[in-house]
Amino acid sequence: MSLIETLPNDFVWGVATAAYQIEGAPDANGRGESIWDRFSHTPGKTHKGETGDVACEHFYRWEADIELMQSLGIKAYRFSIAWPRVLPDGTESPNQAGLGFYDRLVDKMLDAGIKPYPTLYHWDLPQVLEDNGGWVNRETAYAFAHFAEIVGERLGDRVEHWWTINEPWCVAELGYFSGDHAPGRRNRAEALDAAHHVLLAHGLGMEALRRSAPSSQVGIVNNVETMVPKSAHPADVEAAELAHQLRNTWYLDPVLLGTYPELALEHYQWDQKSVRPGDMDIISGPMDALGINYYSRHVAGDDAVDDVERPSPIVTTNLPRTTMGWEVYPDGLRDILLRLDQDYDLPPVYVTESGVAFTDVERGGAVHDADRQAYLESHFAAAAEAHAKGVDLRGYFIWTLMDNFEWQHGYSQRFGLVWVDYGTQERIVKDSGHWFADMLRAQSSMPR
Ligand code: FCB
Repeated sequence: MSLIETLPNDFVWGVATAAYQIEGAPDANGRGESIWDRFSHTPGKTHKGETGDVACEHFYRWEADIELMQSLGIKAYRFSIAWPRVLPDGTESPNQAGLGFYDRLVDKMLDAGIKPYPTLYHWDLPQVLEDNGGWVNRETAYAFAHFAEIVGERLGDRVEHWWTINEPWCVAELGYFSGDHAPGRRNRAEALDAAHHVLLAHGLGMEALRRSAPSSQVGIVNNVETMVPKSAHPADVEAAELAHQLRNTWYLDPVLLGTYPELALEHYQWDQKSVRPGDMDIISGPMDALGINYYSRHVAGDDAVDDVERPSPIVTTNLPRTTMGWEVYPDGLRDILLRLDQDYDLPPVYVTESGVAFTDVERGGAVHDADRQAYLESHFAAAAEAHAKGVDLRGYFIWTLMDNFEWQHGYSQRFGLVWVDYGTQERIVKDSGHWFADMLRAQSSMPR
């Protein structure tokens, strides 16, 4: 029996996407501008100046996209809700046309036997809120709670599982420190305040959802990387620990323990002025689930500690890499799950993203991506191993359903199980997509 078969019958297998990466239609039905519209239209910010204006035209093709998922036997879908479609001005009264889109999407999903797992914030902040300070402004956290409440009221009768924020590390570090993501600011102090407000938004958003949709199961989605010391030398081991804190526990300790981690606090010398009394209690409110996004590891060494703050590899190794330049390291998924399980009292865990961009070639209506299948199989096995060793892992969502707008990399990176021809918007299921569908079919026919 393979390791994957040791996972329980009710294990949730799904796929994930995000609104700005697939929807297109930036002006449809009164949608407001988001920071990604502004950023991608700013010269020099994205690969070849590409934008999400068209993307996969999912806003118009959503019915066919759900039918495609259904045909593949997919039973769970993590997607995101575009804040500027629901609240074009960020805060005030909801745009019914925008809400209606997600309403119909959820209904169609449910009709197709697909369980919705929406994320409320996958990086598309209304530009008006950025003009008002963005995540550096504490008010944005309250605006998010308002958004969560409105969406919960509208969809909470049919949606059970919710994710508040996708990858606070990326929001704060890439958006406000490295500037690789929208809004493209580069300021350490602002990034730390932004991170705190994003976490506060998670806590307030959770409370808001529980008010407006009382049967909600709510959690946050954190991206984690396994940090491996370059050598057994104590300085390298300490560097890896600092890297782990800067990258992982800075965003996990607050939600799971109500504190920020020591070594990292010392490293940043953060004044913590943005932390108000009561904040940490809100942030660490009980969660029903924790989402983990895993793509790769970093090797950390004493001489490279500063680099850890940047999303670039620290030490060159001989492992195979993806077209993103990320090392292929499935064991890291097992290791980080086991470590988190050891260090915290975890709620049920889901791998909310895991997947890969390789050089796919479409020929005659087929994409033979054996490399992606191998990648997924090895990562599924790593997750199953962690489960077998006691981690309460409940599900696994592949990033991503179909090729899409990969942020600053534009359309140069194809992560999909489904190939998208951006000229015609044709969808072609890659071999890995067929393989995943076969796996799902085999599982659903297993005796319960
Ligand atoms: C994650 C993002 C997702 C996608 C993948 C490749 O960090 O959440 O939107 O870009 O990386």
